Amino acid sequence: MGQIEVFSPAKINLFLSVLGRMENGFHELASLVAQVDFGDRLFIDWEAADSAAVELSCDDPSLPTDSGNLAYAAAEGFLLRSGLKWRVRIRLEKRIPHGAGLGGGSSNASAVLTALGKLAQEAGELGLSRGETLELAAELGSDCPLFLDQKPKLMRGRGEVLSPVFGAAAEDLVGRELLLFKPSFSISTPWAYKTLAATEGAYDQREWAEERLAAWSSGDLDLSQLLHNSFEKVAFPKYAAFDPLFRKMKGYSLECLMSGSGSSCFALLSSSSNVALLEGVVRDCWGDRVFVKRAKVLG
Ligand code: C5P
Repeated sequence: MGQIEVFSPAKINLFLSVLGRMENGFHELASLVAQVDFGDRLFIDWEAADSAAVELSCDDPSLPTDSGNLAYAAAEGFLLRSGLKWRVRIRLEKRIPHGAGLGGGSSNASAVLTALGKLAQEAGELGLSRGETLELAAELGSDCPLFLDQKPKLMRGRGEVLSPVFGAAAEDLVGRELLLFKPSFSISTPWAYKTLAATEGAYDQREWAEERLAAWSSGDLDLSQLLHNSFEKVAFPKYAAFDPLFRKMKGYSLECLMSGSGSSCFALLSSSSNVALLEGVVRDCWGDRVFVKRAKVLG
């Protein structure tokens, strides 16, 4: 028997270049990704059983509670690979909106893997090695591996090739205050990739993307100048809501960016930002059903 409570943070992409389609059907990315102090909470406990079993409950009734939920699939995968005959119970308190580009489902999956790894260790069981955990996370979803620790990262390949952000660049990022906001509609990730693939000239050049990331890493480019997301090329023409709000925010000297494949966005706040006023601007543009949340980059 054992139990654990884990925080499952949201992520934002501060730079997201889609470079082209790879032979495996996935797209090659070059991205700067960071997790924030806003997220979901999971309560996990286990008991010995005759065979492995997973039970998931969630306070958001619109989400599946079977293997269609990545948290469930992660627990199932962990038990299958480790051979542990545990009955695992997960209670998921959902706060991260879905269809948002904030990585909520992927974060939940990795939180489950990390938690079960800790519980196995506490129980004196082998669990999974770091390599096996990483492999399982990558199988669960392209964004899962980045959530196995909370540090900001450069993300390449399909999302599984991760490298740390060092020195002044990390200092520039960690602790940054943001305003997250999501319109009432969501954007489907497969739709966003498919539409991008069908859009002439939508892929970025690898050299350009790497130059931008290198310039930021070496302090030659400010974070606000780095902000870029390939998916804005497909989301903005389809959804008229983005452009007017981004223009208004620019009027307050704030740079905004869509995160992941959308539909959520964020603005980099400064010490002089009037957050209440900015929240009002977002609500004026996008209505009362908008999700707005102030958050800070984790390190
Ligand atoms: O890996 P994941 O399940 O998150 O992928 C969701 C969708 O996004 C899939 O349809 C996949 O084809 C697409 N995708 C992609 N390239 C990536 C990540 C995701 O084409 N690097």
